Amino acid sequence: VNNPRTLERVGTAAVWLLIIVGVGASLSRYLLPAALHAQIARPLYSEFARDQLPVLAAHPVPELLHRVGGSIYLLLGATQFMPRLRARHLTLHRWCGRAFLALTLLAGSTGVFMALAFPYDAEETAPTVLFGTIMVGCGVMAYVRARRREVARHREWVMRCFSVGLGISTIRLIFVGLLYTTSLPMRTKYVVSFWLGWTLTLLAAEAWIRLSRAPQAVGVPAG
Ligand code: HEM
Repeated sequence: VNNPRTLERVGTAAVWLLIIVGVGASLSRYLLPAALHAQIARPLYSEFARDQLPVLAAHPVPELLHRVGGSIYLLLGATQFMPRLRARHLTLHRWCGRAFLALTLLAGSTGVFMALAFPYDAEETAPTVLFGTIMVGCGVMAYVRARRREVARHREWVMRCFSVGLGISTIRLIFVGLLYTTSLPMRTKYVVSFWLGWTLTLLAAEAWIRLSRAPQAVGVPAG
């Protein structure tokens, strides 16, 4: 895909797909009847559905904060990138930005808490703490750049932060892929999808940031 406009369209479609996957995975637990939710989760999550979803449900407060906070984070994040909304309603953009930072802290901290307190596999703790910290760090950097009115840098840090949030959907897509194409042990599939999902999404965001950076003014050589 050489044309930047085409690349932008493909990227936007991919981002919306990831948002739908993330919000769907989160809210289906509350919006669907329990039996239907369990029926859908089984082929997508395999043993994780049987072994770990009941563990999460046994801790309803962190589960609710994480699922609902994470969903609002994804939806709010998407609207924050809409240029027309930003240009016409700057004050709203600023307040939503503060809420987005609070949700970043909420989703990150509850995620780290769950990985430490009742993990499915002990090896998920390392990627969770690492990428949770990256997400919160990038969110704080985005806020600092916004306060300094460094708009271009602010945009880049929000993209990095948001890519970690979107990564939770890439993780789920990779997990389903591994589930049906490999015979690795279940927990290996799970941990591999954590590392791969977050790394690939963060790299894709970094590539897009570099491609879409405004070109620096280049001096024209005399003569
Ligand atoms: C920001 C958007 C996020 C959303 C929408 C989200 C969504 C979810 C959902 C739906 C679950 C329950 C499992 C499932 O039904 O699929 C979950 C579990 C979990 N999430 Fe998140 N999440 C987000 C961010 C994060 C972040 C940033 C971290 C890392 C710090 C994280 C770490 C975890 C962990 C460790 C679990 C429990 C997994 C287990 O039990 O092994 N999440 N998340």
